[in-house]
Amino acid sequence: MKTTISLIKADVGSYPGHAKVHPDLKIIAEKQLSKAKEDGLIVDFHILAAGDDLELLMGHHRGADNNKVHSLAWDTFKAATKKAKELKLYGAGQDLLSDAFSGNVKGLGPGIAELEFTERSGEPLVAFMMDKTEPGAFNLPVFKMFADPFNTAGLVIDSSCHDGFTFEIWDIQNHQRVFMNSPEEMYDILALIGAKSRYVIKRVYPKKGHPKLPDDEPVAAISTEKLYQIAGEYVGKDDPVTLVRAQSGLPALGEILEPFAFPHLVSGWMRGSHNGPLMPVPFKYSQCTRFDGPPRVIAAGFQVNNAALIGPVDLFNDPAYDITRKKAQEVAEYMRRHGPFEPHRLPLEEMEYTTLPKVMDKLKNRFEKVK
Ligand code: F6R
Ligand code: MG
Ligand code: MG
Repeated sequence: MKTTISLIKADVGSYPGHAKVHPDLKIIAEKQLSKAKEDGLIVDFHILAAGDDLELLMGHHRGADNNKVHSLAWDTFKAATKKAKELKLYGAGQDLLSDAFSGNVKGLGPGIAELEFTERSGEPLVAFMMDKTEPGAFNLPVFKMFADPFNTAGLVIDSSCHDGFTFEIWDIQNHQRVFMNSPEEMYDILALIGAKSRYVIKRVYPKKGHPKLPDDEPVAAISTEKLYQIAGEYVGKDDPVTLVRAQSGLPALGEILEPFAFPHLVSGWMRGSHNGPLMPVPFKYSQCTRFDGPPRVIAAGFQVNNAALIGPVDLFNDPAYDITRKKAQEVAEYMRRHGPFEPHRLPLEEMEYTTLPKVMDKLKNRFEKVK
């Protein structure tokens, strides 16, 4: 029987402002998912929080896109929203964009990453959860894990990784996808995913002929939901999540974590409209405070045991990442000094807040043609 791991998340209210998930919301989620575990709907779960995002991590045998599992997540977010409203938390229910649940949370606001696979004798899994950024923020680290020989030594020296991996890349503006192979098409892959606000890595697969893994079971999955594209207006941040399997023919745990030692620039800081460095932090520092940021990522490590999740280990709770955090602080400081100027502020078409139409309206009779 295959195992499915589902990570489904939403911001259904936080305190103060957009900083942190309130403990009462976690307690509600804990109760709902405990009941589902007792009833046999899911095998195991963990409730996590990344900044203002409530994260439901579930292990089960029902496959990806399962109605019952999605409806459990939806009902849990609904119950948490009710509590958030009672407590007058900030942005209560903000990511639940529709009242009409019809079997699948896709397109309704929550972010989803799911992996369905045949468990190996030892099955390490990492759940990455980001706050104050967008799905494309995973392009650089996921590319490095599975395609960059300077990051992943296994691509060079482990014969079971040596043939590379297949990337499923989505064009999230035109709603189409393409499968591309690395290393053969590496430069073409980078031509797409370097444009991270449009092309995002959705899944990674072993290649045909991988000595240890079937080529039709994903080894990484990224949530690619863009809230403003669903709602047609700015409603909140997309704050993506990713599940990655590790070891035995896949990148080792340390090769999966290594890309985050570089605090690369991502968009989504303050009002979803600024670039800033991505800071890897322990769970306890995932709340975003400085200028509503800087954007952060946490990593929860598990061993999967017949869909039970043994963990979590708080993987960035490690002094080895102090130097990255220091660099992120310096970069944050440097970017902040630009104030309202690009490239700290996003280009016009990517900003989630803008006063420009109003400003232009005011000035419309004062603009003069110039030669
Ligand atoms: C929320 C976020 C924040 C908000 C900002 C303004 O995830 O990124 O930076 O955009 O705090 O929020 P409102 O418009 O709700 O006052
Ligand atoms: Mg919020
Ligand atoms: Mg958030």
